[in-house]
Amino acid sequence: MNMLEIKGVCKNFGALKALDTVSVSIKAGDIHGIIGPNGSGKTTLFNCITGVHKPDGGSISFNGEDITGLRADLVANKGIHRTFQAGKLVPNLTVLENVMSGVQDPVGSVIKDTILRLPFTAAKREKEIEEKARHILEITGLSKSTHRWSSDLVWAERQLVQIARAIISEPKLLLLDEPASGMGAKEIGEVENIIRQVRDMGITVIVVSHDVKMLMNMSDMVSVLNFGQKIAEGRPEEVQKNPKVLEAYLGAE
Ligand SMILES: Nc1ncnc2c1ncn2[C@@H]1O[C@H](COP(=O)(O)OP(=O)(O)O)[C@@H](O)[C@H]1O
Ligand SMILES: [Mg+2]
Repeated sequence: MNMLEIKGVCKNFGALKALDTVSVSIKAGDIHGIIGPNGSGKTTLFNCITGVHKPDGGSISFNGEDITGLRADLVANKGIHRTFQAGKLVPNLTVLENVMSGVQDPVGSVIKDTILRLPFTAAKREKEIEEKARHILEITGLSKSTHRWSSDLVWAERQLVQIARAIISEPKLLLLDEPASGMGAKEIGEVENIIRQVRDMGITVIVVSHDVKMLMNMSDMVSVLNFGQKIAEGRPEEVQKNPKVLEAYLGAE
């Protein structure tokens, strides 16, 4: 069984078919890349998966469970977390605090703590979260920025903090929307490494990017969108030489 099964998903904005019967299967343990020119529907697909938009047609199931049109917070509770293209951080928190704020307690844990009435629970819990956050800052190469204000970060650093915040709750599936946007070649290489490490933590990753080279480098599978339709899919080396893909990027003559 595939971890995520997207079947015939449609999303319209007025007359525009932002997604036109898109089907994609995501295998557990993969880094699955989604490429496509600007406006091809990549972010809309993420929005449909994560409950930001309700699809107008089709279905989405996660580990065999139908999650089509489920509310965003409920999708997150199932273990699907994401980053946003124009990444927002909490401005008056430090990098460490921003990452700590990504923790989503499983439903019921608060109640359990209250019943047990352990006076040290909250403090102990916070200490645990802080340790975890520091570990994730190491993985994402952000340790040196632990106590900086998030408002002082440059664009590339903000992207990394978003990833760090998204993985602290150990999602099963992580959706990254343009994680390397606005980065130079060296930084893109670093992001690639970080994404591989995230996958090695046991998190399945879907990465959206218009940067073909980056996605071809690190993805196990690649799906290609163009004008809201899936035009190709396969291993990077196959997709790379697909004439439809070349045409979408080079423009039809
Ligand atoms: N909330 C919205 N309202 C109206 N049109 C939208 C909305 N979101 C996206 N679109 C349109 O849908 C198309 C796909 O957008 P998007 O998914 O953001 O593309 P991508 O992420 O591939 O660049 C674009 O034409 C965009 O203008
Ligand atoms: Mg987008």
